[in-house]
Amino acid sequence: MSGLNRNRFQDLKSNRFGSEKNSQQQHVNVKPSQSDLAAARVQQMARDKQQQQALQRSQLTHSTTRPSVKLSNESEDAAPHRLLPVAEARAAIVRMLTNQSACIIVGETGSGKTTQIPQFAWDDVVSKGLCGGDDANVGIVGCTQPRRVAAVSIAKHVAEQRGVALGGEVGYAVRFDDKTSHKTRIKFMTDGILLREIQADPLLQKYSCIILDEAHERTLHGDVLFGLLKDLTRKRQKDLKIVVMSATLNAQHFSSFWRDAPIGVVHGRSYPVTVYHTAEPQADFVEAAISTILQVHCSEPLKENGGGDILCFLTGQEEIEDAKRVLEHRLKELPNDTPDFQVLTLYSAMPYEQQLRVFEASPVGVRKVILATNIAETSITVEGIKYVVDSGVVKAKSFSAKTGMESLAETDVSRAQATQRAGRAGRMSAGKCYRLYTQDAYERMAENTTPEITRSSLNSVILQMKGIGIQDVETFEFMDKPPTAAIRRAEETLFLLGALDRDRSITALGKALTHFPIEPTAAKSILCGKVYGIPREVVGVIAMIATENIYVTSREGKEKADNCRRTFAKPVGDHISYLALFQHYMRLPRDGTHRKDFCDSNSLSHRQMLKMEDTFKQLMAILDTVEVDADWFHGALEAMTLQHRGGTKSHRVDPHARGDDDGSDRKQSSVKHGGGCGGGNASAGGGDFELVRRALCHGFFMNAAYFDTKLQRYRLVIGQQPVHLHPTSALTFQTRRKPSLVIFNNVVETTQRYMKEVTAIHEQWLQDAAPLLYKRIA
Ligand code: CDP
Ligand code: MG
Repeated sequence: MSGLNRNRFQDLKSNRFGSEKNSQQQHVNVKPSQSDLAAARVQQMARDKQQQQALQRSQLTHSTTRPSVKLSNESEDAAPHRLLPVAEARAAIVRMLTNQSACIIVGETGSGKTTQIPQFAWDDVVSKGLCGGDDANVGIVGCTQPRRVAAVSIAKHVAEQRGVALGGEVGYAVRFDDKTSHKTRIKFMTDGILLREIQADPLLQKYSCIILDEAHERTLHGDVLFGLLKDLTRKRQKDLKIVVMSATLNAQHFSSFWRDAPIGVVHGRSYPVTVYHTAEPQADFVEAAISTILQVHCSEPLKENGGGDILCFLTGQEEIEDAKRVLEHRLKELPNDTPDFQVLTLYSAMPYEQQLRVFEASPVGVRKVILATNIAETSITVEGIKYVVDSGVVKAKSFSAKTGMESLAETDVSRAQATQRAGRAGRMSAGKCYRLYTQDAYERMAENTTPEITRSSLNSVILQMKGIGIQDVETFEFMDKPPTAAIRRAEETLFLLGALDRDRSITALGKALTHFPIEPTAAKSILCGKVYGIPREVVGVIAMIATENIYVTSREGKEKADNCRRTFAKPVGDHISYLALFQHYMRLPRDGTHRKDFCDSNSLSHRQMLKMEDTFKQLMAILDTVEVDADWFHGALEAMTLQHRGGTKSHRVDPHARGDDDGSDRKQSSVKHGGGCGGGNASAGGGDFELVRRALCHGFFMNAAYFDTKLQRYRLVIGQQPVHLHPTSALTFQTRRKPSLVIFNNVVETTQRYMKEVTAIHEQWLQDAAPLLYKRIA
C-alpha cells in the first residue's frame, strides 16, 4: 500500500491515462452538445469574441455599459464581475425579461447566471415596474436552487456584491433557516421551499419574477415546480415573469413546455480543458481517484495565488470520507519537498455551514483538494480549480426494471454531466480533466441525464407529489407525462397500501413512506418490521433484493453461486434465504478480508455486497427517524402476540392456503435469528421467520400467486396469469410440495413469466395486509 513515489505516478500516468498525444484530439473546449446549430454559431462567435476579450480585458471594462446604480457602487475587487459573460449580455437579457412572460436562458456554468440574472431582474425590470401588473404592487424576485448550499452561498455572494447585509435586500430561505425580511427583494431558496410556499399561497402573490435555476438537473421537485408554475402563469399571465435557467444547451424541451418561450444563449468564458481517459476500466474508482490526485499533486505546479486546485467527483459521503482519510494518510508518506495539500469535502449530507468551507482560501503554498459529489458539477463554482478528476459515477435514485425496486445506486453520469465536470477545470485558465473511465465507456454513456421523474417508480413519484400537496395528478402538467393508466394504477396501489385515503390525499402512513428512497411497497414492509420489532431483518431483506447482481454471473462462478444459494436456501423461500445470507455476511468481521474472501468463495460480488450494506445503513438511518403507528398494520397485534408466544401460528386456516403447506420445517432452522444480528429482538417470528414474512406481505400483497393444483403451476392472484418460479428460487430445489400461496418481489419475462424472490405465505396474512383487496374472508 505504502511506498508511493513519483515513479509510480509516472507509470500510472502512462498506464492509466494513455499518452497525452492520444488525448489531444479530445481537447474539449467545454461546451454543450452541438445539437442546436444556431446556438453553436452563437457559441463560435462568442468564443472568438472571448479570445479577444482575454487580450483586451481593460478595454472591455471601459466599454461595458455601467450596470445599475447599485452595481456601480462596487468596490474595486468586485469590479471583475462586470466582465462575466452574463453581464455583457445584460441589455439583451433585460429586453428578453421585459418583453416575455417566460424565457429560457442557457449559459455555461460560471457565466454568471445565478449571481447576476436575479439582480438584473430586480434592478432593471421588476423594480422599474416593467413586469406588468399593478405598479403599486411590485413583488420580489425569487430564484430556486436544487441545493441548500447553493442557495446560501449565492445569496451571500450577491449580498456582498451589492454591499448589503444578508437578510436585507438579498436573502435566502432553506429548510430550517430563513434569512429574509420584509426588506428582501431578491430571494434565493431551494425548490422545496418554493413548493411549500405554493401550498400556502397558490398564486405566489409575493413574487413578480420567479427564476428556476439549474433546470437541466430535472429533479423531481424541479419538474413538479415546472408544472405548478405553468398553471400559475395562466392565472397571472400579466404580472408574473418566469425565467428558466440551464447549464446545458438542449433547452428545446424547456421551450416547448413553456409555450415556445424564447431561448437566450450566453457563452461562458472557458479555457480549453485537456481530457484524459484511462486506458483500462478501473475496478475501484476510489482507489483510482486517490492515486490520480496524488499523481497530479506531485507532478503539476501550484500557483502562488491558489490556482491549481484539484476537484474530484465521487459518489457519496462514504467514498468521500474514505478517500479523504487515505489521502491524508498518504500525504505523510510523500517526499519532504512535496507541497502540502488540504482535503475538503462536499456532499449534501453535510451541514451546509460545513459545505461552505470549500469556498475558504487555503493557506499560501497549500493545494486545495476538494472531494465532492455532483453538487460541484453546476450548482456552485469554486475558484482556482485547474484539475478535475472524474469518477464518472453518481449516486442517484434509480428504478431498476430488473429488481422492480427503486434504490439509491451508483450509476454512470451522462455525457452532458461528464462535460460539465470537465469544464470545471477551465474556469480561469487552461485545465486538465482526468476521467477514471475509458473513452469507450464515455461514448456509451447516455447523452443527457434522465429526469428524476423517469428514474423513479411511478408509485413513489405520485406519492411524493401527493406529499407536496398535489391532489390531481392526472391533470398535472408534467414535462414528461407518464401514461394516464399508469398514474391510475399507481394511485390505486397507494390507496391499497394505505398511503392515500379515499379522497386520494396522502395519509400519515403515506407521509412516512415518502422518507424512503425506495418503492413505497418495500418501505411499508420496513415500517411494519419496525412495529414488529424486527427492523434489521426486514431492512436486510429489502437491502438484499434492492441490490442488483449480488451474484457474479460468470460461467466459472456459476457452480459456486449455486452452492451458495443451496447453502442458504430456506424452505419458506427466497426472502428468508436472502436474510440468512445477509445475517451470515454481516456477522463476518468487518476488518481484514473476511467478507471479501467469503464473497470470492461464493461467487458473490463484494462490490455489490458493499452497496447492499450501504443501502442497509441508509434505510436503517431513515427508519430511525420515522415515527410508526401500529394501527397502520392490520393484524399487527395478533402478530405481536404470536411473537411473544414464540412463533406458533394462531391464524385461521383457509382451504386455499393450508397453513402447514408452506414446506417449512418449524423445528429445524439453521438461521439463528435475533441475537447475532443485533436486532435486539429475540425472535423474528419463529423458526420460519413468520414475522418477517408477514411484514413483507404488508408491502408486497399485490404480488401474490397461488398454486393451481389442476394446472400444476402458479397463477397470479390478481389477473390469474400463469407464472413460474424462477430457476434460481430456493423454492425450486428445496421443497417437494409447492407452497400453495406465495408473494414475490417482481416478475421477469423471458420466454415465460418468472417470479423472482418468492416466499411462502398464508392467506390470512394477505387479508391482514390488504383487507380491502382480500376481503373474501374477513
Ligand atoms: O450560475 P452560473 O454558473 O452561470 O454562474 P454564477 O454562479 O453566477 O457564478 C458567477 C461567478 O461568481 C463565478 O466566477 C463564481 O466564481 C462567482 N461566485 C463566487 O465567487 N462565489 C459564490 N458563492 C458564487 C459565485
Ligand atoms: Mg448557477
